[in-house]
Amino acid sequence: MFRRICLLSVAIACTGAPLRAERVEGYAATVQPFATRAALDAMTDGGNAIDAAVAAALTLGVVDGHNSGVGGGCFLLIHLKDGRNICIDGREIAPLAATRDMYVRDGKLDESLSKTGPLAPGVPGAIAAYSYAIKEYGRLPWKKAFAAGIRCADDGFPIDLVYARKLKATAPELALFPASRAIFLKPDGSPYLEGEILRQKDLAKSYRELAEQGAEWFYTRPFPEVTQAYMKEAGGILTAEDFATYKIKLREPLITSYHGWQIVGFPPPSSGGVHVAQMLNILENFDPAEVKPGTPEFVNRLTEVMKLAFADRAYWLGDPGFVKVPTGLFDKTYAKELAAKVASGKVTPVPDHGTPPDWQNNYFEKHTTHFVTADAEGNWVSCTATINTAFGSKVVIPGTGILMNNEMDDFSIAPGVPNHFKLIGGEANAIAPGKRPLSSMSPTIVEKDGKVVLAVGAAGGPTIITQTLLALLYTLDYDMTPADALALPRFHHQWSPDQLRMEKNTPPALVSQLKALGYEVELIEPFGGTQMIRKTADGKLTGASDPRVPGLAAPTK
Ligand code: GLY
Repeated sequence: MFRRICLLSVAIACTGAPLRAERVEGYAATVQPFATRAALDAMTDGGNAIDAAVAAALTLGVVDGHNSGVGGGCFLLIHLKDGRNICIDGREIAPLAATRDMYVRDGKLDESLSKTGPLAPGVPGAIAAYSYAIKEYGRLPWKKAFAAGIRCADDGFPIDLVYARKLKATAPELALFPASRAIFLKPDGSPYLEGEILRQKDLAKSYRELAEQGAEWFYTRPFPEVTQAYMKEAGGILTAEDFATYKIKLREPLITSYHGWQIVGFPPPSSGGVHVAQMLNILENFDPAEVKPGTPEFVNRLTEVMKLAFADRAYWLGDPGFVKVPTGLFDKTYAKELAAKVASGKVTPVPDHGTPPDWQNNYFEKHTTHFVTADAEGNWVSCTATINTAFGSKVVIPGTGILMNNEMDDFSIAPGVPNHFKLIGGEANAIAPGKRPLSSMSPTIVEKDGKVVLAVGAAGGPTIITQTLLALLYTLDYDMTPADALALPRFHHQWSPDQLRMEKNTPPALVSQLKALGYEVELIEPFGGTQMIRKTADGKLTGASDPRVPGLAAPTK
């Protein structure tokens, strides 16, 4: 299947306009060739990595709209050429009228309501984040970032295998909402197939308005009024006031060291930055040379570490504006304590979360896509964007083409009730008006001696965290190329459920050895979508797009 995906990506990439090739200016990796091309074109046109990332994001919102878009949110991690790291939090927030029991009907929790329909969306933050990034750090006019997206929405684009598969899986739910049905399904109600052309005229119109009028179109008028009117009729709670009060947050990057590298991650409400750092800190207590990737010893060590981190995630993590998330979670002493619980060759039960040092006093102040860009001057962007699960809430605001997220499902909608990703969460991640739901998005940048050597991140719910960890270990500890690192069969453990999930192309002997150790192994379809750019020892930019998605990683020439 991977081979087919790769061939498809080449075929699609070859159908676009040839890339201009005057100068090598940068590198981009995204899940969709149209978006990678938009990023590369932005840099060839004199833009920097920030212009490139926003052009990619807005193009993805059209050609990969089941994963991300202006109806969703993002975490944007920027490394500027002067050495500063900037974290722009464009995560959705719960509407002002949200309540803890908003999904309870007749005394019973209705789990479908946080996933599908008008009660599922949080207030989108992506446009606010992109607009801020361009204004502060970009070089090209805001308008330019929309050009490729408008073209793809107006003229249409051939949908890829992943898009077609997700469309087929969600067609019955999309059919419930007339504006969604009119765009994503054919007149006879069937989904578009791989290779068929999807046009999104309303979205093209909205993009033109956004390009001309700026983020105000989205947060002031007219989009909030149109959304409020629709929500009122459809039984939602989003209002124009929700949009008017939305603000991005600028956050302090979360920095830890790992064997001499500096790992720059995204702080809460991302749980990814915290737990990638925490797991690296635990692993620093072991010698990577003792275990080789692809062996039961390697998977055993990592799985035990994942269990400890995800047990902490379920208890401690939430929006730092509402709950105290201890910074001790990635303290080196705490990591040592946790490392002592990892017994080689054993499956050790993790009954509960740990207790990081000084947790009372030291805390953070408080389906998805990943893309990375780098320019020749030394600016880098690692960004994860999402509308949550495939096609988000399935709700398109009529007349706008804008598909709304279902990020409310990333809250713990009730104690002990797992979300779409089977993640359970605690009080720290309970719903409250204006609160950001906990996320697994883990945009990461690695520096050596103050210079970026790698940018990475992933898509795929909680597996984002473990995909990012594996990609870091394979490249930093084992010096694999990005392509080799991303091609290896993946595994994931998130504490609850107590299952080691492994991609089904994992060698059967390895699966048997892990079962013999005592793991409950679940073989699953290939998962995730990691994107990576790496600087080689001789200063060249190289990278890879996950072979599991029809993406493209490429330089400007
Ligand atoms: N919506 C997936 C995440 O943010 O983790």
